[in-house]
Amino acid sequence: MANPSSILVLGGTGPLGVVTVRLALEHGHNVTVFARNPSKLPVDLRSSSNLTIVEGQLSDTANLFKLVDSCNAIISLLGPNQLWHKTGVFQGFYRNLLEHLQSLESPPRTLLISTISAPSPLDKFHLLAWLIVTAVYILAHGAYNDVVGVAETVEKNIGNLPITVFRVGGLLNGEGTGQPVATYVGHSDYTLSMNRKDIARWCVAQIESGDTTWIGKFPCLSAPAVDKKTR
Ligand SMILES: NC(=O)c1ccc[n+]([C@@H]2O[C@H](COP(=O)([O-])OP(=O)(O)OC[C@H]3O[C@@H](n4cnc5c(N)ncnc54)[C@H](OP(=O)(O)O)[C@@H]3O)[C@@H](O)[C@H]2O)c1
Repeated sequence: MANPSSILVLGGTGPLGVVTVRLALEHGHNVTVFARNPSKLPVDLRSSSNLTIVEGQLSDTANLFKLVDSCNAIISLLGPNQLWHKTGVFQGFYRNLLEHLQSLESPPRTLLISTISAPSPLDKFHLLAWLIVTAVYILAHGAYNDVVGVAETVEKNIGNLPITVFRVGGLLNGEGTGQPVATYVGHSDYTLSMNRKDIARWCVAQIESGDTTWIGKFPCLSAPAVDKKTR
């Protein structure tokens, strides 16, 4: 591609992270993964010449913000992956990240993942989504609180930053069929689950296209139109 981006990926070691890093590399971008467990990246990815891997904790902001300063896009796929996730881990991290981004003359295009636990005023009632969010609230309360807290923190501190918080429901594996539709829960084009590879396509396309439609917004991704008959 004509203008390869320098993309910083957070949460790159989960299944969605791996397919996103792989796609960005396939598209010729320079990718940096900042991760606490880099060994979770597949061996073939780790040997890619366009991939830089930096090991660190989210609390290591001195090192992490150096990477933020030298990238032109951030994809954060960070999310609680343990039932006993401690409330506030991500909320505190994003508060610091947004404060740092505000200090930059030209902040990077930033895509942050969230879930349907974080509501939008544009959402409509959807029974299955409500049941899932209620189950998460009961069974993984720390994770629920952190996800909601992150969305509130970003909303409060986003200002004019080029950030999109994209929310997802259930994630599936497989090849996928295209790019998800950005919409809101309960709308006519909404589906609860979608393919990780499709989400990766959407993220990379958002960066490559320079699309500003979803900047400052909190859409919910939904399966590509061609997929809907099966959901
Ligand atoms: N699975 C689903 O159906 C589903 C549904 C809704 C939303 N989501 C969200 O979608 C995203 C991708 O999900 P996934 O299932 O593909 O992968 P995942 O395993 O949930 O990925 C989570 C990523 O966040 C990192 N992470 C978690 N806690 C961390 C912490 N305290 N400090 C630093 N890094 C931390 C993980 O790092 P480690 O590899 O080191 O643990 C991993 O890279 C996540 O944000 C998840 O919450 C998933």
